Amino acid sequence: MAKLSTRPGISTLAIHAGQEPDPTTGAVMTPIYQTSTYAQEALGKNKGFEYARTHNATRAALERNLAGLEGAKHGLSFASGLAATNALIQTLSAGDHVVCGQNTYGGTYRLFERVLRKYQLDFTYVDTSKLGDIRRAITPSTKMLFLETPTNPVLRLTDLSGACEIAHDHNVVVVVDNTFASPYVQRPIGFGADIIIHSTTKFLNGHSDSVGGIVVAVRDDHIEWLRFVQNAEGAILGPMDAWLVLRGTKTLPLRMDRHNASALVLAEFLAGHPKVTRVHYPGLTNHPQHDLARRQMRGFGGLISFELGSLERARALLNNVSLMALAESLGGVETLISHPATMTHASVPPDRRLEIGLTDDMVRVSVGIEDVDDLKDDLTQALDHI
Ligand SMILES: Cc1ncc(COP(=O)(O)O)c(C=O)c1O
Repeated sequence: MAKLSTRPGISTLAIHAGQEPDPTTGAVMTPIYQTSTYAQEALGKNKGFEYARTHNATRAALERNLAGLEGAKHGLSFASGLAATNALIQTLSAGDHVVCGQNTYGGTYRLFERVLRKYQLDFTYVDTSKLGDIRRAITPSTKMLFLETPTNPVLRLTDLSGACEIAHDHNVVVVVDNTFASPYVQRPIGFGADIIIHSTTKFLNGHSDSVGGIVVAVRDDHIEWLRFVQNAEGAILGPMDAWLVLRGTKTLPLRMDRHNASALVLAEFLAGHPKVTRVHYPGLTNHPQHDLARRQMRGFGGLISFELGSLERARALLNNVSLMALAESLGGVETLISHPATMTHASVPPDRRLEIGLTDDMVRVSVGIEDVDDLKDDLTQALDHI
């Protein structure tokens, strides 16, 4: 009998999707197959495993799990989120054009502009929260729409159904970087997306102890080519990291509920604080796309950004938090605070930063799962130093 019903809930999927007791021992948790090769029974006869760049059972269990969580057909994991993005771009050919959100992750922008342009790929960056801007940017060479929603760090949303409809009318493949939301908060395939990528480094792993990436897809031609690229280019996720992410996804729904709830409490607290000039959080009723967030997301995510009026005031806050760690990255159980302009987005030119509303006084918080009152106390005492 199949272990999962036809429509399992997401918490059940998180624990069981793609997971079977280990065939050798019955181990309930997938073992870490830390091996580079496999003994063959006879020439041309093996158990389906020949060499670990091509096949690894721990990695395969994670790929099935993440495909299940995103409602996709198959997943392929890579050494980092950027390696995953680079792999999915290999579905394109020289001369192809990509329409991309203007507020995409800085490392993605750097990959597109500094590396992939050398291979005659063309990129146009638009404000994808405006569907008309997406439509106008599509040319006869456009083959891919690359979206991030919510964006980092200004937390603007893209209407996924609307964007997919426009793209598909022009035979353009829709890719969503779903790192910021996680499949618990948002499942873009349900809105029509074709390919999803994640930096598993973030919410999926959730414990800030591994770097990795995943691409999940629904179309057989994409899956086949991505599988080929994973082996041909070789930027695979190692078995230990695959196991760590698999351990992480089991508690994803529980963690995301807490991230969502605490972020909303802190966003409301910051919005009412006299030293904070502006708060960006889709869960606030004055967020310009709050209604879209309610339609498209389950909760509003664990990231908040806010403005303090000047770089000096932002610096005073960042240098005085004590429970929160001043660090890049996001999505872990612990709360991290950062200064996007000089940290995560330092590779984005200043004029582009201003264009997307990323000001020098902006601070970003990745809200962890500590007691929210302790987080509020930490922000309160740090704000007192301004
Ligand atoms: C939205 C987003 N996409 C992709 C990446 C790249 O992931 P990685 O650092 O695992 O290469 C990041 C990293 O911060 C990210 O925030």
